[in-house]
Amino acid sequence: MTNAFSLYSSLKDRIARREARIATVGLGYVGLPLALTISEAGFPTTGLDLNGARVAAINAGERVISYFPEDRIRSAVAGGKFAATDDFAALAEVDVILICVPTPLSPAREPDLSYVIRAAEGIAERLRPGQLVVLESTVWPGATATVIRPILEARGLRAGEDFFLAFSPEREDPGNATFDTRSIPKVVGADDTRSRELIDQFYSQIVTRTVPVSSLATAEAVKLAENSFRTVNIALVNEMKVALEAMGVDVWEVVKAASTKPFGYMPFYPGPGIGGDCIPVSPVYLSWRAKDVGSALPIVDLARANNDGAPDMIAGRVAVELSKDARPITDARILILGVAYKKNVEDTRESPALAVLKRLEAMGAECDYHDPYFPVMPVTRDHPALAGRRSVALTEEAVAGYDAVLVATDHSDVDYALVARAARLVLDTRNVFAAFDTTGRPARLVKI
Ligand SMILES: NC(=O)c1ccc[n+]([C@@H]2O[C@H](COP(=O)([O-])OP(=O)(O)OC[C@H]3O[C@@H](n4cnc5c(N)ncnc54)[C@H](O)[C@@H]3O)[C@@H](O)[C@H]2O)c1
Repeated sequence: MTNAFSLYSSLKDRIARREARIATVGLGYVGLPLALTISEAGFPTTGLDLNGARVAAINAGERVISYFPEDRIRSAVAGGKFAATDDFAALAEVDVILICVPTPLSPAREPDLSYVIRAAEGIAERLRPGQLVVLESTVWPGATATVIRPILEARGLRAGEDFFLAFSPEREDPGNATFDTRSIPKVVGADDTRSRELIDQFYSQIVTRTVPVSSLATAEAVKLAENSFRTVNIALVNEMKVALEAMGVDVWEVVKAASTKPFGYMPFYPGPGIGGDCIPVSPVYLSWRAKDVGSALPIVDLARANNDGAPDMIAGRVAVELSKDARPITDARILILGVAYKKNVEDTRESPALAVLKRLEAMGAECDYHDPYFPVMPVTRDHPALAGRRSVALTEEAVAGYDAVLVATDHSDVDYALVARAARLVLDTRNVFAAFDTTGRPARLVKI
């Protein structure tokens, strides 16, 4: 029996008996739900994060992600199968390591793999024979094999022989009440058979369905294909919104009716642009890699440019609608409803709402915001200058004091009826007021 085979069989056995010890590196929107789901499936799980305050909050059972059930973290910690740590030494004890750290864009809007590289270096220092290392962060096709593998192999251990290496893209959709980590099928890929079998066997015990693919690069590409599809379709519906409006047709009504087609159509909705750590980022990774190999993705690039320009377009439209009320933008007071990048999450990364806010202020307007998820604006990578601003309390008196209310993010927990009663002008990018009958609508309502 070769050494590689015995390492493989021994890990396979441990996984089958749910005795394999698991670590997730990164306890953010992806790593934390993943770690909890794995521990809930019976595997002893350690969550590793460099952020000591987050680790302490998790170990204290605090609900650090707002859409989690109240006691999910507390029960996991109390059950003894899950603990968080900020000490990389914990990795020496585990059998499977899942890397879930950020992969943002650099200031030059190019892939930034620095977090993944740092995590891989921390793992490489402690890597021991028989471990399975899985990258879950979104990267360009080829990154695991050409960037991560050499770091892990630097001390002499070989992937596929001494340790196992796989890629499994995250498909977490924060705040989605229908699908969670367990019920979303998990794509798993590796360049060698043993690694592929191990990752497939592991996730078969965690999620309802695995989807094995033939290589690391294929698994990496799946994620980018999914997000580029969304990018292109969001750009398309936003473009259609403008053209249809010129024809006197409401895009929302069109999308609703088109969605009744049982095949060949999937609804995408207009808005002020795209946000989050995923949709705006993945197509850049794909496009960057395409250039690297002498190819190109002009349709994806055009969609990106369209989405990047959406907040500016919305800001311009706000100025036009205010001027119809004889209110110059340079003198206007605007309340922005919702600053998160999408509804019902406490996440402002790449938020188009904040891009609109900044654009309106650059045009001379005075902007405030209301967002139940952000009583105070945190310090963020994208918008450090906005840190410390406070959400305005939503009273009729406050709302009536603004020249316009702009609905940028359609959180459920907002009193839209109050806004409808008090606002002078509502500019709705999310069609939230469609649900109000004519009598309950604001004095002046414009879908933009
Ligand atoms: N958020 C989503 O909706 C989503 C969905 C699918 C995929 N993804 C992808 O998943 C990856 C992780 O995203 P996220 O949203 O969970 O990020 P996040 O910012 O919420 O969390 C990342 C965590 O990793 C920690 N961290 C950073 N570097 C570290 C290191 N070297 N060692 C240990 N911990 C470290 C940070 O402190 C943070 O807590 C990204 O590649 C992202 O593109 C995100």
